[in-house]
Amino acid sequence: MSDEAPIGVFDSGMGGLTVVREMMRQLPNESIIYFGDTARVPYGPKSPDTVLRYSREITSYLRGQGVKAMVVACNTATAHALPALREEFDLPIVGVIQPGARAVTRATKTRRVGVIGTAGTIKSRAYEKEIRKLLPDATIISQACALFVPLVEEGWVDTEPTRAIARNYLAPLVAAEVDTVVLGCTHYPLMKTVIGNVVGRQVRLIDSAEETARETGEILRENELANTTPNRARYRFIASDAPDTFLTLGERFLGSAIDRVEALTLG
Ligand code: DGL
Repeated sequence: MSDEAPIGVFDSGMGGLTVVREMMRQLPNESIIYFGDTARVPYGPKSPDTVLRYSREITSYLRGQGVKAMVVACNTATAHALPALREEFDLPIVGVIQPGARAVTRATKTRRVGVIGTAGTIKSRAYEKEIRKLLPDATIISQACALFVPLVEEGWVDTEPTRAIARNYLAPLVAAEVDTVVLGCTHYPLMKTVIGNVVGRQVRLIDSAEETARETGEILRENELANTTPNRARYRFIASDAPDTFLTLGERFLGSAIDRVEALTLG
C-alpha cells in the first residue's frame, strides 16, 4: 500500500473531528477520509452488537476507498468494536482508548484516576481494563456523563446549566480526590474549561485525541506507511445524513472550516 494513501477515520458523528484536528496538527503530510455516521448518532446509548455492526460497515467502506490505516475516533465504537475490527481487517487500526490509558500512566502521581464517557463506554469498562493493565493498583472512579454530548452539540459548553450538570456528574471524582481525569468521549475536550473548573485546576485532564494522533504517527512509522511528502495532504469528509449541518457545525470540532461534505448512506 502506497504511503500516499489516506488514513480512514470514523466516528458516530462530528465529535471525531477533534481527533482529525490533532492528526492534521501532528501528521500534516497525511491525507484523511473522515466518515461521520450522522444518520445513526448517538452510539453512546446503543448496544455493543449494534455499534459493532455499524463499525464493521464503515470500516469495510473505508477499506474499499483504499485507506492504508484506520483510526476509530469514537470512544464508544473503540470500546465495543476495536478487537473485532482488528481481527477482521488486515490493516493497522488505532482506537482512542489504549492511547488514553497510556497517557494516564504518565500523568498520575497518586494513581487515583477518574474516567468519564458515554453510558456504553463506561459500561464496557474498556478504559478501566486498559488502565489496570498498566497500573494494577490504581483506584479508578468511572462516571457516565450522558448529557455532555447533547450539551456540546447545542453549543452550551460554558453556561450555568452545563456547570451545574458537570458538578453533579463529577462529584464522585472530586470526592475521591482523583489527580487525573480521562476525557473518554470525543465531545469532552470541548468542555475542558468547565470540567477543569469543577475537578480543580491541579487535576490533569487527558485528551484522547492528542494521544491517539501521536500513536497513529508511531504506528505509521513502524509499518513504514508514513507519508514524508509535504504539502500533498487531502481531506475528504463524508456524513451519512445532514451533510449541511455537518459542514456548519463540524467547524466547532475541527477548529477550521470544512469546504465540502459528501453524503453517503450505509447499511
Ligand atoms: N463519539 C461518541 C464517543 O466518543 C460520543 C457521541 C455518541 O454517543 O455517539 O463515545
